[in-house]
Amino acid sequence: MDGKKIIIGNWKMNPATFLEARSLLNNLKTGFRKPENVDAVICPPAIWLKALVEIDKDKPGMFQFGAQNMSWQESGALTGEISAPMLKEAGAKYAIIGHSERRVWLGETDNMINGKIITAFKNNITPVLCVGEIEGEKKSATGGSASGGEGITKEAIGIQIGEALSGISRGQIEANRIIVAYEPIWAIGSGVTPTFDEVLSAALLIKKTLVNLYSRDTVEKIPILYGGSVNSGNAKDFVEKGGVDGLLIGGASIKASEFAGIIRAVSN
Ligand code: PGA
Repeated sequence: MDGKKIIIGNWKMNPATFLEARSLLNNLKTGFRKPENVDAVICPPAIWLKALVEIDKDKPGMFQFGAQNMSWQESGALTGEISAPMLKEAGAKYAIIGHSERRVWLGETDNMINGKIITAFKNNITPVLCVGEIEGEKKSATGGSASGGEGITKEAIGIQIGEALSGISRGQIEANRIIVAYEPIWAIGSGVTPTFDEVLSAALLIKKTLVNLYSRDTVEKIPILYGGSVNSGNAKDFVEKGGVDGLLIGGASIKASEFAGIIRAVSN
């Protein structure tokens, strides 16, 4: 790893119009100098990706761009999907894969996620694989701890990583770049966050699971991110105390001052 922190903004299905998306990007760039030690990535709705990449060219190097999703197929009959070569042509260098909103509400399976990672590698797109327990949600709903508990977290992460990387060799992992994001579903958009210690144990768990699949040397190069209700106030602590290499930001990434604040916070 080059030691740079990675901050990825997932705009999800926001903002409502292209004009607003363009001003969000312009607002982000106004008076803002991206710190050298941070890679900042924006994942806008795919329909605006190419135009935003073009707009960004007036200040090269400020942001990189990514997709929020990508098909496992490179072409063909797959209504509504967008292929890796199309995203690449539009300027995407990253693709979020297996976000829990897609797993839970759109029926995305581990098998599809596995295919998407293989296709991303083939097309030189860095997959940002999202994993995280969903069971904690139930616990918090029943008045228990908001956290999924170590057993549940361990099981969910182990299964999701194992399935997502099924059949992918150590050689393939070494020849490509992959990022893993720990995103406990109950923390996404809820304002409820795990403790820094819980993030630290989840990050270690992810590393351990990866080491079991590959080798320690290989895994050292894989950045681990945290995502779920991050804002400019807690960002630095998540990175420092949670022991992660960066953050995946939802809600706070569509507020220019918040996103810039997060980037600044982790750079110090
Ligand atoms: P949030 O979303 O920051 O709004 O909680 C995080 C995510 O979905 O990755």
